[in-house]
Amino acid sequence: MDVNCISGGACHPIMVGGRIGLDRGPADLEPGGEPIIPDFSSRPFEIFCGDALETIRSLRAGGTSFDCVITSPPYLGQRRYGHDPREIGRAKGKGGVRSYVSALVDIFKAIPLRPWGSIWVNLGDKRAANTALLAVPHLFVLGMLEAGFFLKDAVVWAKEVATVEGTSIGHCQVEPAKGRLNGNAWEPFYRFVKDPRHSWSDTSAVRIPRDPERFFHKGTTDPIGQHPYSRRMTCATSLEGRCLPNVWYVGNSRKGEDHHAAFPRELVERVVAMSCPEHLVDDGGQARPRERKVQATEYSEGPGKFITVYGQLSCWQGPHHHGNAGEEGSASLATLRDRSGRNDTARRYVPRYPRTLGWTHMDKAVTGPGIVLDPFAGTGTTGEAAILLGRRFVGIDLYQDNADRMNRRCEAAFEMLQRTRGSSQSTQ
Ligand SMILES: C[S@@+](CC[C@H](N)C(=O)[O-])C[C@H]1O[C@@H](n2cnc3c(N)ncnc32)[C@H](O)[C@@H]1O
Repeated sequence: MDVNCISGGACHPIMVGGRIGLDRGPADLEPGGEPIIPDFSSRPFEIFCGDALETIRSLRAGGTSFDCVITSPPYLGQRRYGHDPREIGRAKGKGGVRSYVSALVDIFKAIPLRPWGSIWVNLGDKRAANTALLAVPHLFVLGMLEAGFFLKDAVVWAKEVATVEGTSIGHCQVEPAKGRLNGNAWEPFYRFVKDPRHSWSDTSAVRIPRDPERFFHKGTTDPIGQHPYSRRMTCATSLEGRCLPNVWYVGNSRKGEDHHAAFPRELVERVVAMSCPEHLVDDGGQARPRERKVQATEYSEGPGKFITVYGQLSCWQGPHHHGNAGEEGSASLATLRDRSGRNDTARRYVPRYPRTLGWTHMDKAVTGPGIVLDPFAGTGTTGEAAILLGRRFVGIDLYQDNADRMNRRCEAAFEMLQRTRGSSQSTQ
């Protein structure tokens, strides 16, 4: 397998002339450790119990490269998972944030990532004794940019959303917050890439469904594709729907037995579907991911209807056909959105959907699915999502009890995949 490491990458343009000056340890300069090679011959996952950086070095020495990294590292000073001094997040004192961010960035730099790979990181903030936020996620982003990565997506994981009507959607942990807002309602989920133009992205796999009764393939009454990407996915998706926005409302779930920092599977599965290729092929000795070929095609509301040009205005039910969506007596925004997939009702546009024409490299032999790595895998939520969606998975955790439950969870996911594979749709 090819090994391709970010170490030594060019400085991000935004950092030229001013670095945040993290404590640069020797981590990225050191040679690999004792080589290890994950064995996918009988099952699509491998679990390692050990320190993230040491294990990554050994994986790199063994020649494995990763297509996608999805992880939630321990937050700074949040909790203790055990007694191992190598545990991340325990940094204290004045340089605490700086050395914490340095340690994390060193780990991500050491990962042998494919040129098309993505690194998704969910990271929470921390408050100083004076109650001010330390801006840990912001400093981490700067550190990653300084290390040569590019920030391709920044998702808000919303756990509770307050509406202007005085209600709220969802739920987040109550915290005593004097003179400030409850800071538990959202967390960032960042996507870093080495090459923003050529990172592998299948956004068609995670589109938002449109109303199948209103939108048809042009000039026909054939409904546009509403089929889910896979019945193994919890999130509703549509191959031909509208582009997924970057605020995801995902309720907190506790599927990780007594692990208190497990993230929900729903948060991870879109990320697997859109940024880890399902099929790698052998292209003359070079690994390549198959890419979906799409064509932007106009929607229609049925044969003979001219409405495509006006998009969602055609769905208007109110008395003022060309009025303002917010006007009293006209169709509600929610109705318009459900029918047309658009909220910005004031604009004329031609609504299109990405029709799948096929995939690239169909003449090349498939060598396997992409590999997802979680270097702080805890209970294996990432592994469960990756395996259920037909990808391979490597999980690392410092503690044996976590590695054991991750193993059980991945086994169960693999069994379910085998049971459901025949009845599920693939992306192809
Ligand atoms: C926030 S939890 C991850 C939870 C996971 N996303 C899940 O859904 O279960 C962080 C994990 O990192 C592990 N960890 C801490 N320091 C580590 C290190 N140096 N190397 C590997 N794992 C480590 C902890 O044991 C913990 O399980």
